[in-house]
Amino acid sequence: MRIGVLTAGGDCPGLNAVIRSVVHRAIDNYGDEVIGFEDGYSGLLDGRYRALDLDAVSGILARGGTILGSARLERDRLREACENASDMIRDFGIDALIPIGGEGTLTAAHMLSEAGLPVVGVPKTIDNDISSTDRTFGFDTAVGVATEAMDRLKTTAESHQRVMVVEVMGRHAGWIALESGMAAGAHGICLPERPFDPAQLVKMVEERFSRGKKFAVICVAEGAHPAGGTMDYGKGEIDKFGHERFQGIGTALAYELERRLGKEAKPVILGHVQRGGVPTAYDRVLATRFGWHAVEAAHRGEFGNMTALRGTDIVMVPLAEAVTELKTVPGDRMDEAESVF
Ligand code: F6P
Repeated sequence: MRIGVLTAGGDCPGLNAVIRSVVHRAIDNYGDEVIGFEDGYSGLLDGRYRALDLDAVSGILARGGTILGSARLERDRLREACENASDMIRDFGIDALIPIGGEGTLTAAHMLSEAGLPVVGVPKTIDNDISSTDRTFGFDTAVGVATEAMDRLKTTAESHQRVMVVEVMGRHAGWIALESGMAAGAHGICLPERPFDPAQLVKMVEERFSRGKKFAVICVAEGAHPAGGTMDYGKGEIDKFGHERFQGIGTALAYELERRLGKEAKPVILGHVQRGGVPTAYDRVLATRFGWHAVEAAHRGEFGNMTALRGTDIVMVPLAEAVTELKTVPGDRMDEAESVF
């Protein structure tokens, strides 16, 4: 079998572990040939690829990023890819394509599968927002980075009697904010799923200071919005990939809290640091298992599916099911977190 692999969308720790696992399983167990397309689907469209043998993936298990490069795909180019799906199979001689990516990548994978490409998807994203899988790799690493950052910010916040507003990633789903906020013992957590009222945060900070606590840490997801009429904060325009351009809720909220409280409030934007660096052991193992199962599924001819974690098992689920809706934080998980701070 000749297997093509690509990594698309925003990168995340663990991508290299999947690539390595695919190459090992395919070559060691089946004697397959593996090629890697560069920079996501654009490599597929432009015919940019290279052979991946065991040497090519040596030493990459713990390396962050992706050795293949990644990119987001504009919708017009995706249409072009679908129209040329059968030509691509012939041109590259591939019997299976394994795209590794998040919601956008898997939606494209589903469209390519419908257009006739033999596709087995592998879900990844630090946001953990893909339906049909309990976890995506990259999430554990991102939560660890954000938690450590807040642990560190607490000590300096206390020294200076400050409020720290820590902005973490999460456009539509607040999983990183929820779990890192809980793990770090943040005093407030704001998620995209539930508009927040800054007046409640002001009350919480004032109560803490009245009890002799001299600092507060608030964890806010980048996609969180204040409830209508509670604070001046607009929605951003939509970019060419269909994503909202955020206005910087961390900075806006810190400014608002400082104004209302008369205390120093500092924004800390963690940004892409959450996506960089070495994956945790958990993410390496999940990524490795996904790669192994993707190759198995390709050999069984189970195309149009993606790997998924259910409990502790890896199963195959239809791409169509996985891309219908995002996995957002349910209300009861938000209630649990609220009861902690
Ligand atoms: O989807 C993963 C993600 O890291 C989001 O959390 C974040 O909003 C986005 O990617 C950032 O994308 P970019 O790397 O294009 O700025």
